[in-house]
Amino acid sequence: MRHNFSAKRFFQLSLPLCLMFCTAQWAKSSDTTDKQKIKDRIVVESLMRLPNVDANENGELKQTALRYVESLGDDPKQIEIVRKLKLKGLSARLLSKAVEWGMSTQSVQAVELVAQQDGLEVLKKKLCDANPTESTFTLARIVALSNKREFLQLQEEILSDRDVNKFIRTEAVVSLSRNNSFHPKLVQLIRDGKIPEDAKTLLGPTLRNSENEEVRKSAKELLPASSGSSRELPPMQQLVKRQGNSAEGRKLYFGVATCSQCHMVGTEGKNVGPSLTEIGSKLTKEAMYVSIVSPSAGISHNYESFAVRTSDDEVVVGLLVSDTEQSITLRDAKGIEYKFAKGDIDELKKQEKSLMPENLHELITEQGLVDLVEYLSALKKQ
Ligand code: HEC
Repeated sequence: MRHNFSAKRFFQLSLPLCLMFCTAQWAKSSDTTDKQKIKDRIVVESLMRLPNVDANENGELKQTALRYVESLGDDPKQIEIVRKLKLKGLSARLLSKAVEWGMSTQSVQAVELVAQQDGLEVLKKKLCDANPTESTFTLARIVALSNKREFLQLQEEILSDRDVNKFIRTEAVVSLSRNNSFHPKLVQLIRDGKIPEDAKTLLGPTLRNSENEEVRKSAKELLPASSGSSRELPPMQQLVKRQGNSAEGRKLYFGVATCSQCHMVGTEGKNVGPSLTEIGSKLTKEAMYVSIVSPSAGISHNYESFAVRTSDDEVVVGLLVSDTEQSITLRDAKGIEYKFAKGDIDELKKQEKSLMPENLHELITEQGLVDLVEYLSALKKQ
């Protein structure tokens, strides 16, 4: 009995004591990290005020600055600190932050800073990856937003390399076409067969309206306006500057433009293609025009379509929604799912074309297209 009593007492006493001790320890530790952060901030901010500081020259200062940058989480202020103090060794962090931030000013600043510190090779290596992932594509879109000379040269190299992913090369085309002085070069690349087929649809209007007369002439011969379509869109540079009416755009989205038959916005629409609920945070207006006018130019990752041919000669084209040992399932353009037993499939082929139809912008007027893009670009992350 005595024994029992003391064990109970022991727990009765030790539990609150332990809790008190742990809480005190925790308070102390969070206190020290806060204090540390404040101390680090004072050091870093004083350094930022001095001209020509190179934090790498002093081990202790460098450690302090690195620790402080780490503690900043997502705060874009870290870019300014890295730049001013010439802090080395943070490229990987800056690139992954840029991808997290998506298409934004701070992301462009981050990738430009990485190029300045470690050279363009770092970016080139990532963009030329043989197996690009969703973050490679995001990085490509960010890099394409920079108009710096050396970035455009990098885009030219990427474009000339046929082994690089088609989508990443299309971003390069879009980026280069913004700059008039690259128009003659683009014409040359078309002649050399180095421009992805789908990207030509995008380049046509821009080059046929180029300021450079030679370019205009060559473009009319190399990329004639399609005779099937009744009218020609203005060049991208003009389109992106135009202001649309978002409410009109919404009507078109859910109406004649048929977008909602394949894309959800919030809880409305069908989910054949990717959800567009936050598309305004993902794509620039320019990229949206590309997606609508020339969907096959940059097929979103995970949305490539496949064609199945069965032994009975049944053919279905759609997105691959599941692939197991026994069967595969495709979802077609109408949102209908088809399941095939593996044994019945004669051929499964990845398609070059997007499941999204090519000529949707012809269902609406030019102003309607501008309105539609206005509507989409207002759909941002909350
Ligand atoms: C028949 C189905 C279908 C219709 C109709 C359709 N889309 Fe798509 N859309 C897709 C598919 C599938 C993808 C993904 C493959 C790709 O990127 O081409 C896509 C991709 C996109 C993307 C790129 C999304 C991203 O996350 O990168 C945008 C933007 C887009 N569509 C906008 C539209 C708009 C605007 C309309 C109406 C004018 C429309 N779509 C009509 C099927 C469709």
